Amino acid sequence: MHLRCSAIECHTALGLHDRVFACPKCGELLEIVFDGKLPDPPKLKKTWLERRASSDPRDSSGVWRFREFLPDGYGDSEIVTMSEGNTPVLRGQRTAGWAGVRRLWFKHLGWNPTGSFKDLGMTVGITEAKFVGAKAVGCASTGNTAASLAAYAARAGLRAQIYLPAGQVSPNKLAQALDFGAEIIEVPGSFDDAIETLLHDSGADVYFLNSINPFRIEGQKTAMFELLEQFGWQAPDYLVVPGGNLGNSSAFGKAFIELKSYELIDKIPRMIVVQAKGANPFARLWTSGSRELQATAHPETVATAIRIGNPRSWKKALRAIEFTNGLVIDVTDEEIGEAKAMIGRDGIGCEPASATTLAGIRKLREMGTIDPDATIAAVLTGHALKDTDYIIKASQSLRDEAGAVLGI
Ligand code: F0G
Repeated sequence: MHLRCSAIECHTALGLHDRVFACPKCGELLEIVFDGKLPDPPKLKKTWLERRASSDPRDSSGVWRFREFLPDGYGDSEIVTMSEGNTPVLRGQRTAGWAGVRRLWFKHLGWNPTGSFKDLGMTVGITEAKFVGAKAVGCASTGNTAASLAAYAARAGLRAQIYLPAGQVSPNKLAQALDFGAEIIEVPGSFDDAIETLLHDSGADVYFLNSINPFRIEGQKTAMFELLEQFGWQAPDYLVVPGGNLGNSSAFGKAFIELKSYELIDKIPRMIVVQAKGANPFARLWTSGSRELQATAHPETVATAIRIGNPRSWKKALRAIEFTNGLVIDVTDEEIGEAKAMIGRDGIGCEPASATTLAGIRKLREMGTIDPDATIAAVLTGHALKDTDYIIKASQSLRDEAGAVLGI
């Protein structure tokens, strides 16, 4: 395994554990590649299933269970894990009807140790940080990365430094980061300003753990390994995911590329990335057919997790959309609110950013893009308790309407 520049025209190779975050030649993001031999697919799938019955901490993790596809070189005891992953796939029985489709499933990544998908990447990122001898780790965040980084850093005995957009992070997420003992630096402006400040101000001793870090991407991609295992290795027609900084979309695209090239799946799901209308640079890029991202200067949406105007991983995510023959759309805050109420009244719950998925599915169905019989997996990225202020402020009539639609 090694690190490689993600720009196809560059592809500069580096050592796997070199502590670099951008290509020294062209400045693009890095990715982890491997060209090793693996057991044949049926054997590998059987091994992964058998590990579920083992009490080895690596096997109890829904990330490290798929370690044949993860960075290596760590001793067994060096892995920093909290049994992340192992999240359910829930049938969207009545919510499906609301969206106008028949086969809808939610992969709930909000049911991870700190309540979001970030834990899947953080177990790998923090393991690597410790391995390369870092004493401090840092990130900019809209809240969930902060909570996850703080928890995993505490488990590893590392100092955590977190840059947040001042006044724009849900108190629940902030409380988690404080509880786990992170140092908080509030930056005026948006997430985009916070990440600029992190990259500029934090010293060389701080190991970066935003999703520009390719080790995070490796962990996050395992969500798709687990999902496909849960689907009996038959890919759904569509995989729907919210888009903010676009690390997750990049990670899922990488998973599909690897699963297909190692013949673990035949069919690839079409990936649909859904953004909030007030923070939609990637959706605008896709609709215009342009190859250059025009950032949103002042991103604004109730879905604070994805209030991001200048996503760092857009090139990787665009490649993922192209590879999967996918598409990108945006939804309004009103549409997010309706979809969130529906997921709540279905007994599942999620944070606002996650509800973009259901809102997007409904919209694409109304536009006739999605067939009503298509099999759809929507990724819920954060737990309902991540943003309780939003729930308390949301109108009761919205919840009543959702209940009426669901026949409750
Ligand atoms: N959903 C939730 C709940 C998130 O917290 C995020 C991102 C996303 C979706 C978007 O994922 O950035 O990979 O496209 N949250 C980051 C954070 C930015 O700091 O917690 P993405």
